[in-house]
Amino acid sequence: ALERTLSIIKPDAVAKNLVGAIYSRFESAGLRIVAAKMMHLSKEQAEGFYAEHKERPFFAALVEFMTSGPIMVQALEGEDAVKKNRDIMGATNPAEALAGTLRADYAETIDENAVHGSDAVESAAREIAYFFSDEEICPRTR
Ligand code: CMP
Repeated sequence: ALERTLSIIKPDAVAKNLVGAIYSRFESAGLRIVAAKMMHLSKEQAEGFYAEHKERPFFAALVEFMTSGPIMVQALEGEDAVKKNRDIMGATNPAEALAGTLRADYAETIDENAVHGSDAVESAAREIAYFFSDEEICPRTR
């Protein structure tokens, strides 16, 4: 099905100048960028985005990392976009990520793992709405 998913290029990957390389992976796989912005999240924005992880032991470190520098946030659209993006990213832990995935190629640790991607169509809708208004989504007309 035609889906949208929320993607974040995290502070570690932005700092390594990997925005273009990562966008190329999305585009080569047929995912279209239909919204994008660079942001430097506040503590409140990061806590809100990751609210479902509030009770996890890594929550404070996650918020600290996600506010440590600019990120690129994008909505990706395409056939099976949620799974396609997760396949491109590889496993959450780079040590377990398949060769050729973004995390295998560009991430060192589970805490600083280069990218985020929505895990389901429902969470994708919520996550896209967290960062983008309807007017900021630009579906392709050609
Ligand atoms: P992300 O997909 O952005 O969602 C939550 C993030 O928490 C995750 O990627 C990891 O970078 C980070 N994290 C740190 N430790 C863990 C863990 N044990 N399990 C899942 N996520 C973790």
